[in-house]
Amino acid sequence: MAVATESLLLEEISDLKRERGALILAHNYQRDEVQDLADYVGDSLGLSRRAAAADADVIVFCGVHFMAETAAVLAPDRTVLLPDLEAGCSLAASITAEQLRAWKAEHPGAVVVSYVNTSAEVKAESDYCCTSSNAVRVVEQIPADREILFCPDFFLGSHVERVTGRKLHVWLGECHVHAAIHGAELERQLRSHPGAELLVHPECGCTTAALEAAGRGELGPATVVTSTEGMVRHAAASPADTFIVATEVGVMHRMRQLAPAKNFLAANPDAICPYMKTITLEKVRDSLRDLKHRITVPEPVATRARAAIERMVEISA
Ligand code: 13P
Ligand code: SF4
Repeated sequence: MAVATESLLLEEISDLKRERGALILAHNYQRDEVQDLADYVGDSLGLSRRAAAADADVIVFCGVHFMAETAAVLAPDRTVLLPDLEAGCSLAASITAEQLRAWKAEHPGAVVVSYVNTSAEVKAESDYCCTSSNAVRVVEQIPADREILFCPDFFLGSHVERVTGRKLHVWLGECHVHAAIHGAELERQLRSHPGAELLVHPECGCTTAALEAAGRGELGPATVVTSTEGMVRHAAASPADTFIVATEVGVMHRMRQLAPAKNFLAANPDAICPYMKTITLEKVRDSLRDLKHRITVPEPVATRARAAIERMVEISA
């Protein structure tokens, strides 16, 4: 985009934002220019917290649909806007409330833990919600004798099983972006950059391979499996100077801002979430100007989903 056009758009957004009393939240995978205009950029947990604490009348959610729904559940008296309704999520689409009800019927009495990447209807059928930054903690506080259904991400579920040592029933869902970051590609990167630290999102198909390689001592100084925000913080704080980043490439924008002298290499440069990238500056401007697209969650789904999300937020406090 031409510089003049971009600065004009940014001016329009700033005026509309003031007029509307709006707060702009953006996920770490958003386009660089969208991250740069947001009041807060973060991971799913951080964004949920910000939405819950918001005193703005309008929240423009630069992320995907399930995230805006979570904000609408936590801040029901605010106007939550998603700039593009096409911003979906292949992982959230991998389980419906009907499928979850059928799964629960096969395991009566089981505790249901749903990843935040689910629809509000699926959250409403769940006992706990979790994000990549607290999934282990959520599972750890469930009594050991209880059966647990974990959905929808298979790789995150396997990671939680590995860390907690607990056997879970794990749904076979996956994110097509993270599943494509696999062991073979990662091994090639690691061979080319010996000594680099590896930052892995637990949704990745390579998580198991990476941890096994780390266990065999084949990786560099550290392998960290964490949320996008955990990766950003680790990259800024670590004394290492080179990092291989195994998640959607958008997260490297903040890493480069916070640690400009360090090297950040994508484990798979094609790991680009098409849903996250649908949000553009034009769409943010239109969203503020026309108050679209308002995301609401009907009752009783909202109250039931809120209970699952609030249980998670209490555990992570
Ligand atoms: P984080 O919560 O780690 O940011 O991950 C969310 C996610 O997967 C969005 O795609
Ligand atoms: Fe969904 Fe994957 Fe995109 Fe995250 S990266 S929003 S999990 S499709």
